[in-house]
Amino acid sequence: MHQVFAFLLFICTTVVTSREWNNTGRGLIAFEEAWTVPELLIQVANSVPAFGQTKAELEANLLDVHDQRLTQMNENGIDFMVLSCASPCIQGFSDPPTAEALATSVNDVLAATISNNTMRFGAFAALSMHNATQAAQELNRTVTELGFLGALLNDYQQSGDDNTTLLYYDQPEYDVFWQMVVDLDVPVYMHPRVGISLLNNLEYQQAVWLIGPGQQFAASLSNHILGICTNGVFDRFPTLKLIVGHLGERITSDLFRIDEQLQRQRPEGMPMKLNVSTYWETNLFETTSANFATPLLKFHIDAIGLDRIMFSIDYPYASIPEGAQWIEETLPDVLSPTDLLKLKRETAIQVLGLNK
Ligand SMILES: *[C@@H]1O[C@H](CO)[C@@H](O)[C@H](O)[C@H]1NC(C)=O
Ligand SMILES: *[C@@H]1O[C@H](CO)[C@@H](O)[C@H](O)[C@H]1NC(C)=O
Ligand SMILES: *[C@@H]1O[C@H](CO)[C@@H](O)[C@H](O)[C@H]1NC(C)=O
Ligand SMILES: *[C@@H]1O[C@H](CO)[C@@H](O)[C@H](O)[C@H]1NC(C)=O
Ligand SMILES: *[C@@H]1O[C@H](CO)[C@@H](O)[C@H](O)[C@H]1NC(C)=O
Ligand SMILES: *[C@@H]1O[C@H](CO)[C@@H](O)[C@H](O)[C@H]1NC(C)=O
Repeated sequence: MHQVFAFLLFICTTVVTSREWNNTGRGLIAFEEAWTVPELLIQVANSVPAFGQTKAELEANLLDVHDQRLTQMNENGIDFMVLSCASPCIQGFSDPPTAEALATSVNDVLAATISNNTMRFGAFAALSMHNATQAAQELNRTVTELGFLGALLNDYQQSGDDNTTLLYYDQPEYDVFWQMVVDLDVPVYMHPRVGISLLNNLEYQQAVWLIGPGQQFAASLSNHILGICTNGVFDRFPTLKLIVGHLGERITSDLFRIDEQLQRQRPEGMPMKLNVSTYWETNLFETTSANFATPLLKFHIDAIGLDRIMFSIDYPYASIPEGAQWIEETLPDVLSPTDLLKLKRETAIQVLGLNK
C-alpha cells in the first residue's frame, strides 16, 4: 500500500479536453488494449506471456504507449487505440478508499500519457465499484473533463477484509451508475479478471492451468454478463451499451440453449423481460479480441449480426500483427468490403462516439 500512496503523490495531470481523432482514415480501431502503471505490474506477475514475449517484455509492453506500441500500430494499419488499465486493476482492491484514490490517479496518469497524441489514442476509465455513486461521479469526471470514451470494468469488484465479498453490477444499488452511463451515452467494456484465491482454490485446484484466458475468464465473466441480463438491467436501461470481448465470452455461441432453458426460470421469479439473445440486438456488442477464429466469426454474424461485432486485439496479451493480418488478409475472403469496413472501424466509431 505504501508504494501505491507514494505513487499518488507524483501525479501531474494534463487534461485532455478534445478528441481530435482523424476520422478520414480507413484503418483499424482497437479498444481492448491494456496499459498499466509501474505500481500495478504486480497484478500481472502470474500471467503467462503470449506470443513469445518474456515477462520483462510483457511488462514493458504494458507500460509503453508512444514507442513500440505506436510503431506496431503504424506498421499494422491501426489508426486508433483505446487504452485501459490492465486487469484486474481497481477491481483487485478490496479497500474502498484505496480503490477510489487509485482509480482517480490511474485515470489522471492515462489522460496525461495520451494527451499529446489524442489523434491516435483514447481511454476508458478505471473505476472503483465499491460505491456506485462515487463510480458514477468518477466516470462523469473522466468523460466530461478528461475526454474518456467510456469505462472498462474487470468483472466483479472484490471487497471485504478477506477479499471474499464479490460485488456484481446487476444489483439495484448499481442503477445510479448505469443511469450515469446512459446519461453520458458512453459504452462500458466488461473485461475478465483472474479469480480471488478462494474461488481459484475451490474451482481450479485440479487443473490450475484453466485459471485465466483458457477457461476461467469466460466462465466468470459470462456469469456476470448473464446476471446483468437476467436481473433486468437492460429492461431498466434500454439504451445501455455494454461491450464484451473475446467474441462474446462464449455467450453468443450458446444463445439457443440459454434462451430456451431460461424460459423455465420466469415463473420462478427471474426478472428479465426479454431473452438474452434479444439484448444482443439492442444493448450488447462483442469484439474479436484475442479470438481471431474465422468459423466462429461467421457463426456469430449469423447469430447476432455483423453490426454487433467490432474488431479489437487484446494487446499485449495478443499480437498486433496476428490480429491485423487476420482481418486484412483472411477476412476479405469472407466479408464484403462494406462489411469489412464496419468490422474494422465503422461500428466502433458509432459505439465509441468518435463521430461526435
Ligand atoms: C488522417 O488519415 C488520412 C487517411 O489515412 C491521412 O492521409 C492523413 O494524413 C491523416 N491525418 C493526420 C493529421 O494524421
Ligand atoms: C508524447 O510524449 C511522449 C513522452 O514524452 C513522447 O515519447 C512522444 O513522442 C510524444 N508524442 C507526440 C506525438 O508528441
Ligand atoms: C458513496 O459516494 C458518495 C459520493 O462520493 C458519498 O456521498 C456517499 O457517502 C458514499 N457512500 C458510502 C456508503 O460510503
Ligand atoms: C457531470 O460533470 C459535469 C462537469 O463537472 C457537471 O456539470 C455535471 O453536473 C455532472 N453530472 C452529473 C449528473 O453529476
Ligand atoms: C486481499 O487482497 C490484497 C490485494 O490483492 C492482498 O494484499 C491481501 O493479502 C489479500 N488478503 C487476504 C486475506 O487474502
Ligand atoms: C425467448 O426465447 C424463447 C425460447 O427460444 C421463445 O419461446 C420466446 O418467444 C422468446 N421470447 C422473446 C421475448 O423473444
